[in-house]
Amino acid sequence: MKVIWNRQIVEREEVSIDPEDRGYQFGDGIYEVVRAYNGVFFCLDEHIDRLYSSAQKIEMAIPQTKEEMKSLMNQLLKESGVETGNLYLQVTRGIASPRNHMYPDLSVLPTITGNMTIVPRDAEKIASGITAVTEPDIRWLKCDIKSISLLGNIMAKHEAHKRNADEAILHRDGIVTECSASNAAIVKDGVIYTHPDGNLILPGVTKIVWLKCAEALGIEVREEPFTLNQLAEADEVFCSSTTIEVMPIHTINGEKVNNGKSGEITRQLADAFKQKIEEHCGTV
Ligand code: PDD
Repeated sequence: MKVIWNRQIVEREEVSIDPEDRGYQFGDGIYEVVRAYNGVFFCLDEHIDRLYSSAQKIEMAIPQTKEEMKSLMNQLLKESGVETGNLYLQVTRGIASPRNHMYPDLSVLPTITGNMTIVPRDAEKIASGITAVTEPDIRWLKCDIKSISLLGNIMAKHEAHKRNADEAILHRDGIVTECSASNAAIVKDGVIYTHPDGNLILPGVTKIVWLKCAEALGIEVREEPFTLNQLAEADEVFCSSTTIEVMPIHTINGEKVNNGKSGEITRQLADAFKQKIEEHCGTV
């Protein structure tokens, strides 16, 4: 299996992570998840822009230009032979010894790894939806950085799993922020509500696309915070991410949303999103 290792594509067995890599020791790094369909990346530019924006927010200098990074990713896609699947790209602040919380100087180069996994598109699930539970948002206050330090997210996901749910919808003092690994939205009386970008959520690439779809469909969107009460009274609830696209949520805390069926607006958005994929990557 071929992987990205710093500036090259190598066999996975050739990669070694140093015990003093800051990603390993401090969770000091950032990442991106990019999906490919039919051997073509979807929204690669948007993911690259967010990667470099995350890097800038933590004062980390990625040695490659955006163009160089894109061509490395495209090279991996080609050499891995993966047609439809996910690329996970991590950039850490590199190896610095002895261990010290302070950032090392910029002569220490970031460590870059990237791997592709085959993940077929789950059209059935996108039609039928998933279950969710609500959980307190225990994460830090810079959720706009796509940090590899994901303890707050994975603990929430684990709680959801223990409660037999697929996803955790997170809230801060009753305000819904996003989900453990996706953005959250509700539909009420034909209007979509979703938390505005800022430090409390990750600015989703999938969200950028479905916002455009909503506009084209003439569906009103209000990027404003909504409460747990509004969530409970919503006509439709959905979440979105690179790996699950626009995904209906049919049950929250054991209570059915829209009688347990995917709502009309969510379905329209999911279909429009699929069309965007097909315009760029071919039939899926
Ligand atoms: N997660 N919010 C959080 C906390 C996320 O982890 C993600 C994505 C999103 C949606 O972002 P996008 O639409 O750009 O994928 C929102 C990825 C898929 C992951 O970590 O696996």
